[in-house]
Amino acid sequence: MTALDAFEIRGGRPLSGSVRVYGAKNAALPILAATVMVEGTCIIDGVPALEDVRVMIEILRALGAGVEQDGERIVVDAASIAHTDVPADLMARMRSSIFLMGPLIARFGEVRVSRPGGCVIGQRPIDFHLRGLRQLGAAIEERHGFIRCTARRLTGETITLDFPSVGATENLMMAAALADGVTRIENAAREPEIVDLARFLNACGAQVKGAGEDTIVIRGVHHLHGAAHRIIPDRIVAGTIALAAAATGGSVCLEGAPTAYLGAVLSKLREAGARVEVSGDALWVRAEDGYRAVDMVTAPYPGFPTDLQAPFMAWMTMARGTSVIRENVFEARFRHVDELLRMGADITVDLRTAVVRGVPALSGAEVTASDLRGGAALVLAGLMAEGVTRVYGLHHIDRGYQDLELYLRDLGADIIRIQSGEDG
Ligand code: EPZ
Repeated sequence: MTALDAFEIRGGRPLSGSVRVYGAKNAALPILAATVMVEGTCIIDGVPALEDVRVMIEILRALGAGVEQDGERIVVDAASIAHTDVPADLMARMRSSIFLMGPLIARFGEVRVSRPGGCVIGQRPIDFHLRGLRQLGAAIEERHGFIRCTARRLTGETITLDFPSVGATENLMMAAALADGVTRIENAAREPEIVDLARFLNACGAQVKGAGEDTIVIRGVHHLHGAAHRIIPDRIVAGTIALAAAATGGSVCLEGAPTAYLGAVLSKLREAGARVEVSGDALWVRAEDGYRAVDMVTAPYPGFPTDLQAPFMAWMTMARGTSVIRENVFEARFRHVDELLRMGADITVDLRTAVVRGVPALSGAEVTASDLRGGAALVLAGLMAEGVTRVYGLHHIDRGYQDLELYLRDLGADIIRIQSGEDG
């Protein structure tokens, strides 16, 4: 893939039909990282085919784990892990590499990582992770861009997070699983992906209680054994498609949608006038006769997810009225605004607040994604726009959406992936 690869979209077609929701990236990544703590074999089902998953598998193999993949099933044998230095080039390719710290120091008493990469959605520090590991007894030194953690043995502590950080909650929950004694994580994040990770750890013999609430209690054990686990469906992918259905005036059924985890999103869809029906694990979204502008603020779960802020904004660009959107989780998550303006949107930004005035139409343009969810927003805008839109920066989008063009084509969208050098 090169920077010239793009999605080419002919907009104005309502999405219709049904698709099945695949496994959650943000559950699969910490769970795959957690397999390094297990002295045995783990069978993980429902793993999405994403670039970030491919990178995580490369990291596990680089550490010496045996990893076999058969479609959505990944089998990890971590009994044979030989060392704990995570290759810097792999670390830099995604933020989730930070999830290796807790598991490796918990099982082996040492880990060396480089500062993780990440989206351009903010500075994305890791101070909560490092502070919590120090509280559990790790010695941490940073030199030449590397972070080295050592601990003869981790010891349970009460850790209070300054902010309910998803990654810090997950990293510290994994580290505490093999620590001596009891750890309490207070002001913990409550995302469903954290609950899924706790389910996996407990299936391996850990003793984690309270995941999904703001205080998690982990009683350390000496060893973890192999287990089988199925990843929960991806609420952000489901939310993205639901917003796309509403934005194109379509009628879409999302099978296997984690509707229990989409409360804030479904509420906004209904507030704007979309018809939303839940029957079992199927979610229907219809918005044939347009929709009203609604305000929105992002917040830690169960608030409106920051990962759907950009797709939500794209949807609001053609709403009747004005929508005020406030991004409370990341300090720089409006990189998609400039590209939406190129398509005729009317948006003004002041620090963490964006004011979106609905316009009668967007017009197709050449736009570039600068991060994963911002890219999804540009695809959604292309589906809404008159004419042809080309969305570049597919390497961002492929990190979090599995074959997005095929998924949307199954719903009637006119979208193709053009490779560089091909005349689209
Ligand atoms: C996870 O990122 C997700 N990634 C993100 O999804 C998601 O947007 C985010 O949680 C919030 O829900 C994965 O799970 C792999 P945080 P994470 O720690 O853990 C600050 C996507 O598109 N902070 O909850 O990195 C941080 O800067 C991605 O799938 C510190 O200050 O997010 C941010 O402002 C994007 N110090 C806030 O907390 C720290 O040590 C929330 O970050 C850690 C975080």
